[in-house]
Amino acid sequence: MTHVNRVTEVLKNEEVRMIGICGMGGVGKTTMVKEIIKRLAGLKVFDNVVMAVVSQSPNIQKIQLEIAEELSFKYDENTESGRARRLHGRLMEIKRILIVLDDVWTELDFEGIGIPSHKGCKVLLTSRNLEVCNAMGSQEIFTIPVLTPEESWELFREIVGKPLDYPDLAKRVTNECAGLPIAILTVAKALENKRKHVWDDALKQLQSSAPGSISSMNDKVYSSIQCSYDRLESDEEKSCLLLCCLFPEDYDIPIEYLVRYGWGRGYFSNTDSVEEARNRVYSLVDKLQRRFLLLDGKSEEHIKMHDIVRDVAIQIASREPHRFLIRCDAEKKGWPKIYDHYTTISLIPINIDEIPVGLDCPKLELLHLEGECYSENSMDIMCKGMKELKVLALVDVCGISALPSSLGVLKGPSNLVPKWLSVFNRYI
Ligand SMILES: Nc1ncnc2c1ncn2[C@@H]1O[C@H](COP(=O)(O)OP(=O)(O)O)[C@@H](O)[C@H]1O
Ligand SMILES: [Mg+2]
Repeated sequence: MTHVNRVTEVLKNEEVRMIGICGMGGVGKTTMVKEIIKRLAGLKVFDNVVMAVVSQSPNIQKIQLEIAEELSFKYDENTESGRARRLHGRLMEIKRILIVLDDVWTELDFEGIGIPSHKGCKVLLTSRNLEVCNAMGSQEIFTIPVLTPEESWELFREIVGKPLDYPDLAKRVTNECAGLPIAILTVAKALENKRKHVWDDALKQLQSSAPGSISSMNDKVYSSIQCSYDRLESDEEKSCLLLCCLFPEDYDIPIEYLVRYGWGRGYFSNTDSVEEARNRVYSLVDKLQRRFLLLDGKSEEHIKMHDIVRDVAIQIASREPHRFLIRCDAEKKGWPKIYDHYTTISLIPINIDEIPVGLDCPKLELLHLEGECYSENSMDIMCKGMKELKVLALVDVCGISALPSSLGVLKGPSNLVPKWLSVFNRYI
């Protein structure tokens, strides 16, 4: 019996309240729960099935909103505890409901979210960490195994979709993917239609995979995604992908942001207007999606990045020559002492206490600030040394009614209206 069938069977058991699905990043947990949700829809085991993505930096409000959206109601309450009470009440009204919590990294406070403990309310969670599944009180835990070499090979061939020119080489490349679908997908797409030299080179890169320095990730996955990134056809594709790192995990990234950021920084060749830049970005996004480096977002105008791809891309973006500083996670990573080499900074605080003021960033070209209050004075100080700044994005930032005077006029393509380019702040 497949895992999907087994989990579905266990969910029918009245005694079971919580089930965990665990496995390595990129092994197929999210895909599996989506499949289970589809299966359940036909079986009428639950009156409602809702799904929320928890991710590395759990944001209770986001989880509450996602569940409410799926149940088609809106909160009038402004506080977390108020929303928790409301959600609790709403969930108690439903006789049989399944709440799927995807990508749980730490123990969650169900009461704080508003998830009740009545028998008809079941929880299915996924995590990379077995301990988390246990700690949350899962009565049954399913571990998703990596693909066997045969399954891996079948998937590789399916992705390429036509007879392979170098089947032996392709088999060896597949074996380097550690049975993880995400690695197989990205590598297969990066190499299809490529000459033998490119295959040889990729095999060598995968075999000598240096540890990816992300402890929660399989090194093979890291090098597979790096391998796919390295083989993107243009710097424009690479830049477009790296811009997607500026947003939090599991974020629906408005493609328009990529347009403005890329255009503002002059990333695109032969583009004379923002319309042309927009066309370019949509075609770059399309290419990245076909390589499995980006995923569909909630609409045609949004895209998403798989959490694993994002982790690798952040590592790449942090290094030379890109030099991004990204702080979108609650996880305390601390602050660097020196800022003078950064070209791009994104600060989206979720429970971050202090944001450094007075950053000395002479090379900074792009500053994205989101969801925080800044005084005009602190913005002025913060932007003082930013002589190269081309794009300033203040998204849902309060406390500011005009561009920081220390900036003067932003640099950038000369036919750009700076304010239009730079500020998309609902408060202005
Ligand atoms: N059994 C499978 N066969 C083919 N592709 C798969 C399979 N499982 C997952 N994938 C693909 O692999 C990628 C990673 O899967 P995902 O479910 O997001 O992994 P996880 O949630 O464990 O990180 C996705 O693009 C998905 O479409
Ligand atoms: Mg997932």
